Amino acid sequence: MSKIKVLTVFGTRPEAIKMAPLVKELEKNSDTFESIVCVTAQHRQMLDQVLHLFNIKPDYDLNIMKENQNLWTLTSDVLLKMKDVYEASQPDIVLVHGDTTTSMAAALSAFYAKIPVGHVEAGLRTFDKYYPFPEEINRVFADAVCTYHFAPTDTSCENLLKASIPEEHIYKTGNTVIDALLYTVENHKTDLSELNLDKNLKTILLTSHRRENFGEPIKNICKAVLELVEKNPQIQFVYPVHLNPNVQKPVYELLDGHPRIRLIAPMEYAPFATLMKQSDIILSDSGGVQEEAPSLGKPVLVLRSTTERPEAVEYGTVKLVGTDTDAIVKEVQNLLDNPDEYKKMSEAINPYGDGLACKRIVEILKTRLKK
Ligand code: UD1
Ligand code: UDP
Repeated sequence: MSKIKVLTVFGTRPEAIKMAPLVKELEKNSDTFESIVCVTAQHRQMLDQVLHLFNIKPDYDLNIMKENQNLWTLTSDVLLKMKDVYEASQPDIVLVHGDTTTSMAAALSAFYAKIPVGHVEAGLRTFDKYYPFPEEINRVFADAVCTYHFAPTDTSCENLLKASIPEEHIYKTGNTVIDALLYTVENHKTDLSELNLDKNLKTILLTSHRRENFGEPIKNICKAVLELVEKNPQIQFVYPVHLNPNVQKPVYELLDGHPRIRLIAPMEYAPFATLMKQSDIILSDSGGVQEEAPSLGKPVLVLRSTTERPEAVEYGTVKLVGTDTDAIVKEVQNLLDNPDEYKKMSEAINPYGDGLACKRIVEILKTRLKK
């Protein structure tokens, strides 16, 4: 019996974190699968951090990242270069993840090559084509092209049904991010002494990188941070700043140099997970952080007006606050001043998975692709 050839494609930090445990699970089942990994390297340093942590050595590295890249060249680079990878590797199935341009263009490229595609983290939607941009349309495209849909939650399954995806192609698996988080917290304990955080202060962790927040919104977020540290001598901010120049420039211009605002480089996943655990409040526009923080019992104020991850909002551990300076200040202050409010938002819940998503996906692939 010949092995099932699975080509896993990813390019950015969050895709790598969420696909790494799946690559590991495929490797564990090497009697059934030949696992091939292709990274587009839409991200470079932030991708390499994850490859290093999970000890993944890609078979193909397209190395496409350019300084301040745009969506047109990114899309065409992935579309064209994946054609060569598909021709060289001849996989039985391609796996892509989520909603990045790598995922959308790699899925489309596989469709043109008539190779079936599985979409991990399928079915997330805001139903607003510009929020988040371009991710909402990327995921709609990827879902349209894919044959196997690995949806994390009931809501994502329902969204796929609404998009006329046949029910027999939809599998509720949980989100692989929880597999990655549990594995990392268990196997990579890190100490954060290098950060020199003041243990007597409350720590607020901040991340922000969404395209819709470039320009005024990100400046408004920074102004809220400044106002909060001025009003509250008992708090400190830690902000691992995304390497996108549209984020780096305003953030360093507005926040650098304050003794209670620590601007640092993007962190390796293991120390970042530890920092999430040790923080009191998290402010973020990240998708992955919205999924991870609730399972660590940390309140998340989301710096966006919509989310494709409504589950933790419904439970009450995540709140949408947008990017208005006053609104951010008010919501953070509320959590600092009201222990009852804080307690309500810091219940540990886990609507996104149980750590077994990758095992489920691999079992489904075994059954569906048996040779
Ligand atoms: C991308 C994804 C977004 C995802 C985010 C996760 C698209 C269109 N966007 O956005 O969906 O939420 O990743 O972080 O797919 N850079 C570096 N080194 C790195 C990474 C980025 O220098 O390791 C800089 C480069 O100048 C690069 C720029 O950031 O050109 C933008 O990277 P890009 O992947 O286009 O956009 P992100 O904002 O990272
Ligand atoms: N993350 C990390 N180091 C950091 C900031 C975030 O490892 O300095 C992790 C985080 O835990 C989550 C993922 O990166 O798993 C989220 O990536 P990002 O916010 O860039 O993208 P998104 O999830 O919004 O697509």
